[in-house]
Amino acid sequence: MIEPYYADDSVTIYCADALEALPTIAAGSVHAVVTDPPYVIGAVSAGNMASKSGGWADMMNSALWFATWYRQADRVLKHTGSLWTFANWRTIPVVMRAAIDAGLPVTSLLIWDKEWIGPGGTQGLRPSYEVVALLAKPGFAIPERGVPDVWRHKVGSYKPTGHPAEKPVGLVRRILRTAAIPPGGLVVDPFLGSGTTALAAASLGLRCIGIEAEERWCELAASRLAQGALFADEVAS
Ligand SMILES: C[S@@+](CC[C@H](N)C(=O)[O-])C[C@H]1O[C@@H](n2cnc3c(N)ncnc32)[C@H](O)[C@@H]1O
Repeated sequence: MIEPYYADDSVTIYCADALEALPTIAAGSVHAVVTDPPYVIGAVSAGNMASKSGGWADMMNSALWFATWYRQADRVLKHTGSLWTFANWRTIPVVMRAAIDAGLPVTSLLIWDKEWIGPGGTQGLRPSYEVVALLAKPGFAIPERGVPDVWRHKVGSYKPTGHPAEKPVGLVRRILRTAAIPPGGLVVDPFLGSGTTALAAASLGLRCIGIEAEERWCELAASRLAQGALFADEVAS
């Protein structure tokens, strides 16, 4: 039994490893898993393909880890549930491989146009997007059939929290609304970071279980939740 680090009427945070905490969540109890995992592709992400730990073997190792928590996501999700997971172009092969291993198919790749262009190099183009893979359970359905797969949403938040991978609350709210979770439905984020998914869920009248391994980010998430109200740009989407 893992003691909650934080709990209020709608949000519970566990300061724990996702692979320890996910198995404690009841099977078939969750409407959506919305998360932004560490990419853990080691030397590949650092661009050093010549390194011993780089290349395809490195990618396959991380695919094993991804498949392990995808299986847990599959177990906790309802038959009508969905998993939305942030990624970038380098992690797509890992996401695809892990999805096949876990038996949870990727049914869309959402392009998030960050309306901001990062620094370039001589061998690559300047990055301006990230992706969110949608993995759907057999009974999942998006009621509004016209939702496109490219979304524009400013990367910056009104008041940055200090977490290096913080995502915009408004973007996550849009994901939660698209996933058509019923009022009071349960969302899980196994890699909570600064608490963005929990804030977005609570602001929409949903419940959220967040798991985060590092105490400093649990503390940050708890203090964001305790502050309550969202800024106008966090609500807009
Ligand atoms: C990409 S960040 C998430 C950022 C978040 N979306 C936000 O808006 O702040 C991934 C988080 O996963 C946490 N993490 C890494 N490995 C973990 C594990 N095995 N179990 C739980 N959390 C983990 C990291 O500490 C980090 O805060």
